[in-house]
Order: sequence, then C-alpha cells, then structure tokens
Amino acid sequence: MNKSEYWDNIVEQYQRESIIFSSDFHYGPLIDGDSVLKLLPRNIKNKNCLELACGGAQNSIYLAKKGANCTALDASAAQIAYAGKLAQKNAVQIDLQVMSMEQLNSQSGCFDLIHSAYGFNFAADLNKVIKTCGELLNKDGVLLFSMPHPLFSGEFLELDDESGLFIKEYFSISPDLRLDEDANETARSYFYSIDEISTVLAQNSFLIERICEPQICEDPPYTSKCWEEYRPQMLRFPGTIIIKAVKN
Ligand SMILES: C[S@@+](CC[C@H](N)C(=O)[O-])C[C@H]1O[C@@H](n2cnc3c(N)ncnc32)[C@H](O)[C@@H]1O
Repeated sequence: MNKSEYWDNIVEQYQRESIIFSSDFHYGPLIDGDSVLKLLPRNIKNKNCLELACGGAQNSIYLAKKGANCTALDASAAQIAYAGKLAQKNAVQIDLQVMSMEQLNSQSGCFDLIHSAYGFNFAADLNKVIKTCGELLNKDGVLLFSMPHPLFSGEFLELDDESGLFIKEYFSISPDLRLDEDANETARSYFYSIDEISTVLAQNSFLIERICEPQICEDPPYTSKCWEEYRPQMLRFPGTIIIKAVKN
C-alpha cells in the first residue's frame, strides 16, 4: 500500500472524527488556534499562500476568507475531494492539487506564506521539502508548520505513586508506524528533535522566529474523541510543536 492509499482509505473516518473549524487557523489538536497564538503574518489579504498536506484544507479556507490567494495540496485524492466540497460550502476559491510534498519543485510558484499542520511529519525527506519551501518563498516569506512534539513520542506511565513520561531514546526517535490488521506498515509519522528541526531550517537559510509548545486549552478549533483521551498527558507535556521561520 502506498502512503496516499492509507489516507484515501481513512479520510471519511478522519474527517468525521476530527472536528476542525475553519473559523480559526488551527495548529493541532486541543490547542489554541491563531486567534490566540498570533503567529500568522498580519496582513494576509492578497498574499499568496501554499498549504502542504492540507487534508480538508480548513486552514486554507480560513485564509481565503481573509482575502488570501490560496493553493493547497495533499497526496490523497480523497482528502482533496473533501477539501473541494468544504471550500464550496464556504464559498471560497482554492487551487487544490493532488500532489505529494516531495513532488514540489522550484517551478511550483512563488509564495508569501507556506504552512502545514501535522503534515511535515509524514514527509519521507524533511530536508528536501524544507529546501523546496525555501525556493518557493519570496524574500521575507514565512514558513509556518506544526508537527507532533518529540516528547510526544514518549510513553505515559502511571507508576505506584507517580506518573510521567518515559522516553527510550531522544537522539534518534523511532517513527510512529501505522499498521494494518496484518501488521503491514501503511504509513509512518516521524518525530524530530528540536535540534534536528533547527538544523534543517538553518541549512536551508531559514531564521527561526518562534518555537511554540502550547498547552491544551478550553475551546480549541480542532478536537476529536481520540485526542481527548490524551488530555491528562497533554495538560503536562506539549503534544504539538509549532515553528515559525522566515526566509533569510
Ligand atoms: C494528519 S493529516 C493533517 C491534515 C491537515 N493538515 C489537518 O490539519 O487536518 C496528514 C495529511 O498529510 C497527507 N500526506 C501524507 N503524506 C503526504 C505527502 N508525502 N505529501 C503530501 N501530503 C501527504 C495525508 O494525506 C493527510 O491528509
């Protein structure tokens, strides 16, 4: 099974179980959106924005409502079909494309903002994707992405009188493998240490402007029953890391 097949098969369930509003710009489950975190560039009207691994493209829909010109891509045709219907329902125009992040190249356009929520962790080659983002961004363009926090690779243990995170290995964190009923791998989500993220950005001439490790909040723009189960852990440890970087 290739990786888009995995997503094509679970899109209906993913979109049914993930409650993601397009009335705010989300960064991940159970955490505040941009109305609180304020990481997006201020004046987004008429800016050219590209969303990678867009899923239902709720973030592009949010930006399009603010007057941005939006392009959004995803490797899964089923996600793009869902995004198309959602864009129509919200009466916005988005250039939606079935394409993997790795297929992007320097000819793919010219953007002021490239963003991705929980997408870069699925890239087979993060360095290649970030390098291409650098080629596609205008000077002072912004790269804004979120992914599972490396601490979230840990196992939360309830011991006799204590509970906490147990991390076997931080310097080379094993990916989270998605397996089918026959234990065949269908997709993998990578964890990156903060040092790995900052190194790959620096190597590709990005300056990090912010690293955010938000705590969960009361009224998030993205929630789901399955993430709610992690609420006790996520009250104490960050589940998501958000990076805002500027092209140097
Ligand atoms: C966890 S979902 C996140 C979707 C969306 N950004 C959101 O916040 O709901 C991950 C998405 O990445 C897409 N994806 C996985 N690997 C990809 C790749 N190599 N290139 C582009 N999209 C990919 C999947 O199809 C899926 O829609």
